[in-house]
Amino acid sequence: MKLFVEKDYDAMSKLAANMVKDEIEKNPSTILGLATGSTPEGMYKELIRLYKEEGLDFSKITTFNLDEYVGIDEEHPNSYHYFMKNQLFDHVNIDMKNTFVPDGKAENPEEFCKQYDKLIEEKGGIDLQILGIGANGHIAFNEPDEELNVGTSIVNLTESTIEANSRFFDSIDEVPKTAMSMGIGSIMKAKKIILMANGKNKAEAIKELLKADKITTKLPASLLLLHHDVTVIVDEEAYNG
Ligand code: PGA
Repeated sequence: MKLFVEKDYDAMSKLAANMVKDEIEKNPSTILGLATGSTPEGMYKELIRLYKEEGLDFSKITTFNLDEYVGIDEEHPNSYHYFMKNQLFDHVNIDMKNTFVPDGKAENPEEFCKQYDKLIEEKGGIDLQILGIGANGHIAFNEPDEELNVGTSIVNLTESTIEANSRFFDSIDEVPKTAMSMGIGSIMKAKKIILMANGKNKAEAIKELLKADKITTKLPASLLLLHHDVTVIVDEEAYNG
């Protein structure tokens, strides 16, 4: 696991965006795994700048998102479909046909999950996966538990995640209780992974991750210790607490 401790959120975001840029420049048809949430917003902003000011070309890339709430419309402002359009897709020259986000309203969710993993494989697998981390150590919506899913699955959100995500909704009751999320196996198949974290509320999870010498499903991010190419980028607050 490589570690970069950056001065602040801005520096963390720029470093991650530059790593994505390098990947796209090396392989214009790169397949990116994308995350939502507050953490990657600055990275997306910087990618938009790189497109507008430096001509970074998104036209041939393909993207797969980690997760989506179950039962939420794509047009809902808190859906991850909406987030991606708003934060990145509408502002760069990406071909929307090559963007994939789990369908939280799929008629047959189990079948959809299977097909999602199959599609990732058929496209050649994820070259670079972007991850945030939950304050409870989750990655995507793989919450701490006795067991973790290998493939994309329907998952129950923990109380702490529902509470953390309620900041985006009018009330906590509106936060969906279930989501469709790539599993740990789907994530681990990515050729490279970047995990970002900023702010004091992530310090405990980052401390646990960086000191871990055992994997445990109680800290889903610890499974990343088994991956051969993970870069952790944190700001000083997430590093020092
Ligand atoms: P956040 O979420 O970026 O909104 O903090 C990260 C996560 O829960 O994985």
